[in-house]
Amino acid sequence: MTDGAGDVGKVRGWVRAARRIVVLSGAGMSAESGVPTFRDAQTGLWAKFRPEDLATEDAFRADPKMVWDWYAMRRAMVAKVEPNAGHRAIAAFQQRHPGRLTVATQNVDGLHQHAGSPGVLALHGNIAEDTWLEAPRACCTDANLLPGTPPRCAVCGNLRRPAVVWFGETLPPEVLQAAQDAALASQLMLVVGTSGVVYPAAGLARATPGRVVVINPQASDLDAVADAVLRGGAAVLLPQLLEEHP
Ligand code: APR
Repeated sequence: MTDGAGDVGKVRGWVRAARRIVVLSGAGMSAESGVPTFRDAQTGLWAKFRPEDLATEDAFRADPKMVWDWYAMRRAMVAKVEPNAGHRAIAAFQQRHPGRLTVATQNVDGLHQHAGSPGVLALHGNIAEDTWLEAPRACCTDANLLPGTPPRCAVCGNLRRPAVVWFGETLPPEVLQAAQDAALASQLMLVVGTSGVVYPAAGLARATPGRVVVINPQASDLDAVADAVLRGGAAVLLPQLLEEHP
């Protein structure tokens, strides 16, 4: 493991040489966009609740309106923010080099997609989208959707819920599989803004046969498996690494 400004040049060389690259991103990727973390968002009326007690299927079933209202607050926060220079540098690289870089993100804020990244693997879902609580029946269609908090199927009562992975839930298997395949096929993984403590996402960095570069202003659990650690913010370092003439 190394650390220092000279490493940026070395990692730029690794980027140029790699045929396949994976970016594994976490909450720190969006820090410079001003996305409040789970805990920072707990202000005002919500200050007395712990996010871990709201972001679960049990909490939703016990009080669907309360959990729906909490997500409405979080959705409103995310709707106000913009991709930062890091998201944009990744998307621009993908447009210059189609098929060469895959984004697998733990973030539900949709900022990689807004920046123009194609085929983002949203391991923990997307906060802007809804899905059905129970497996949808034939009657569960848009035509039968009854508005409300939450909306429901007018025929069977099936509820809409945010399309995010709640605590205790498994990741969407096809998304996780695609991320594992990309990790195994890559020569370089950029691990950006994640503490590396939540699995299976963190396991992608441990499974890749390629080089691992951690981009994080602070120590993370994945520093130990990194070939280089760049101490800095995503919005500053990613343009330096990915732009042709930074
Ligand atoms: N650039 C890069 N990294 C940063 C920046 C920045 N500007 N600012 C902070 N960080 C780093 C922090 O040092 C920390 O290591 O981002 C990391 C954020 O860690 P977590 O908050 O634990 O986020 P994450 O790893 O994405 O959490 C994983 O846990 O809360 C659940 O489901 C949620 O997807 C989330 C998962």
